[in-house]
Amino acid sequence: MNIGLIIGSLREQSYNMKLASHITQAFSDVTFERISIGELPFFNEDLETNGDPQAVQQFKTAVERMDGLIILTPEYNGSIPGVLKNALDWGSRPVTNSVFHNKQVGIIGATPGGMGTAFAQIHLRQVLEAMRADVLPHEKLHVSRVHELCAVAEQPNTFRYVDRYVQQFIQFIQNTKGVHV
Ligand code: FNR
Repeated sequence: MNIGLIIGSLREQSYNMKLASHITQAFSDVTFERISIGELPFFNEDLETNGDPQAVQQFKTAVERMDGLIILTPEYNGSIPGVLKNALDWGSRPVTNSVFHNKQVGIIGATPGGMGTAFAQIHLRQVLEAMRADVLPHEKLHVSRVHELCAVAEQPNTFRYVDRYVQQFIQFIQNTKGVHV
């Protein structure tokens, strides 16, 4: 099984990236692949007319190859970062051929703050549902005070809630393969 990881932060020392790195090492029976979004141009319908720019083609091909995606994102001013929304908008085009249509998606959000990216996750779920992605239902993972977790990252079980969410997501992919939920 191949699961793509999309990080909503371009920051080198991103906590969300650190959680993604942990995930890639925690599950030996699944291949996790980072799908980068930082080199995508700003979405502009004019750019579509001569075919997708190369970075967009690579992004879409990578998403298409995956059995599922986990998006790990910070919250910026009560919503998702613009760079993440830009990537989602590119992948959703053309609407008849969106790479997110029927794609199983899990959402993880981490912040040093106390609200665990709750607002960003509500917005992200709404955007994904508008694109007819299949978001893992019911389960949510709000990682608050993430800097404290990362400070004790080498201790066992530090990321147990992350592991549990990813395990639920893997099960979701297995249960819903080929079925639009
Ligand atoms: C933030 N941050 C933030 N945190 C939060 O919990 N709720 C918020 O609304 C915001 N808003 C916000 C806006 C902008 C423009 C920035 C740059 C930051 C703080 C944010 O959670 C923190 O910088 C994280 O460490 C960013 O995630 P990464 O880069 O560590 O993955």
